Amino acid sequence: MNLSKLTLSILTFSSILVVSMNAANSIKDDSLGLRHESLLKEDKVTGDETKYGTDPAGTSTKFKRAFENAPPMIPHDTEGLLPITIDNNMCTSCHDPLVAESMGATPIPKSHFTNFREYVALNKDGQLERDGKVVGNSSDLKTIKKPLDMLANARFNCSACHAPQSDSANIPKNNFTPDFRSSDLNDKSNLLDVITEGVK
Ligand code: HEC
Ligand code: HEC
Repeated sequence: MNLSKLTLSILTFSSILVVSMNAANSIKDDSLGLRHESLLKEDKVTGDETKYGTDPAGTSTKFKRAFENAPPMIPHDTEGLLPITIDNNMCTSCHDPLVAESMGATPIPKSHFTNFREYVALNKDGQLERDGKVVGNSSDLKTIKKPLDMLANARFNCSACHAPQSDSANIPKNNFTPDFRSSDLNDKSNLLDVITEGVK
């Protein structure tokens, strides 16, 4: 048996093993979410009550990060702060890096003041155009890091990514434990420094 055939048989064997192990430990469909009922049940089931933190900003306890560079969850009350509208984004009044320190809030990171997209438009032939000139094909789209002097529009709606966390006794069990590459990353992020890691 040559080496590649041997590798292939080991791979096939291990995937059969993984599949059969998964079947043995399979999670039942009634323990996947807060509903605690079979997914096939058509009756109306009442989910668990949502209980968000009520500690006002400045008095709440931060949550541990879910994984390295995960968007942190909002630990404080959001009463009166949501929804965010084009004319009213209260989040920035405390989290803007210019004031955050004096407010005791985590400053909005550099990644949120960065444009990651090239300023291009896709024309009807699938080509990229900048200022009316063809500059490449859609496969040429690159990750760019262009610092902005204002919050990137893609980051304006904070609650699209940062959510409060509901306290519930009914939360499905989760054995995931995050691995942080350095210990300070469990309470701060460094996405901008590592975003192009592994990208050629
Ligand atoms: C009145 C000031 C204030 C406002 C307004 C405010 N925050 Fe906060 N925020 C804080 C403070 C202070 C903390 C640190 C925890 C604490 O002391 O309560 C914090 C913590 C956080 C955290 C956790 C950061 C971390 O390092 O884990 C997130 C995420 C967050 N806020 C998002 C938001 C979003 C989104 C909004 C708007 C919906 C918002 N905040 C509005 C003051 C504020
Ligand atoms: C598109 C998703 C997205 C939006 C929208 C967004 N964030 Fe974030 N935020 C993230 C992610 C992902 C991280 C962690 C990685 C990083 O630093 O970018 C983060 C990190 C943060 C942190 C922690 C910074 C640190 O040093 O640890 C704060 C504070 C924060 N965001 C506040 C905000 C506020 C306030 C808004 C709205 C003005 C906002 N974010 C909008 C995804 C988002």
